[in-house]
Amino acid sequence: NLPLRVKIVEVGPRDGLQNEKETISAEVKIELVDRLTKAGFANIEAASFVSPKWVPQMATSTEVMAGITRKAGVIYSALTPNMKGFEAALAAGADEVVIFSSASEAFAQKNINCSIAESIERFRDVAAAAKQHGIRLRGSISCAFGCPYQGQVTPEEVAAVVKLMRDLGCDEIDIADTIGVGTPRHVQAVMHRVSQEFPVDQISGHFHDTYGQALANIYASMEVGVSIFHSSVAGLGGCPYAKGATGNVATEDVLFMMNGLGIETGVDLDQVVDAGQFISQHLGRKAVSRAGNAIAAK
Ligand code: HMG
Ligand code: MG
Repeated sequence: NLPLRVKIVEVGPRDGLQNEKETISAEVKIELVDRLTKAGFANIEAASFVSPKWVPQMATSTEVMAGITRKAGVIYSALTPNMKGFEAALAAGADEVVIFSSASEAFAQKNINCSIAESIERFRDVAAAAKQHGIRLRGSISCAFGCPYQGQVTPEEVAAVVKLMRDLGCDEIDIADTIGVGTPRHVQAVMHRVSQEFPVDQISGHFHDTYGQALANIYASMEVGVSIFHSSVAGLGGCPYAKGATGNVATEDVLFMMNGLGIETGVDLDQVVDAGQFISQHLGRKAVSRAGNAIAAK
């Protein structure tokens, strides 16, 4: 019983680029977002208002948000770890703000420099401000299937953070496989457990493809009712605080699978392939998408 339609959240401009060592100009990022908008995504993660000392590549977020050509109805999201980030996202006109914590204590410390409980306290003001301004609120939970510092993470640990984010008023919650170690049955167990705490149609799967499991995990998630997935054009990405983590699953690969399954996405694969070739040429390397490279070579 697969869904008839899924929402693909394109996270390439944020998760995909945040770890790049060479500074990418705001112009290139704007061009990328504009190409993705034209391709038909309903939701693009375009910016991250975090400390530029922690993630220098995202320091151009205000310029990027100001420069993009928005399409009515498209949600342009931005990461906001605290009120400082929220104020910047508000000024930049973000349609959705993303608060992000972790299912693992060790990772929360490395990534946002506080405990899970402290992060939730910090997010209280962000959540209230988002509600006040009518901005969508999304919660992201890293290391839901394993942690580079702590190792195993249980479904209960993930569910506990889902409950905290739900109580903050999140409209959507991401279950993220930061280091890509999840496998299909494990993914189903976690998705099943968290859907007891939060509506399954507001849960998203954010899979990194480090161990080549992402497409299988997306399929497995759909079998238990999940219908929102994150992916990166050209398979861009990696997390600065998760050593060895590679990119998100490539959007082109996800779209090729969805098209084959007859599942509607509203996104034009050929235009995504072009966007993937554009950014890969700019970065001076081949796209990390099997489908993207196969289509581009035709
Ligand atoms: P801190 O050092 O504990 O915070 O960092 P602080 O409040 O003491 O501030 C330190 C400095 O940062 C100050 O500047 C602040 O003004 C500045 P100074 O006085 O030293 O000049 N600052 C900011 N500047 C701009 N925007 C802000 C901001 N906040 C503080 N919002 C903090 C705490 C959370 C800020 C820091 O740890 C941080 O920015 N972390 C972000 C890490 C990050 O972005 N990681 C990648 C994104 S998460 C991810 O990729 C996972 C995901 O994809 C899902 C998955 O795959 O798992 C979502
Ligand atoms: Mg990620």
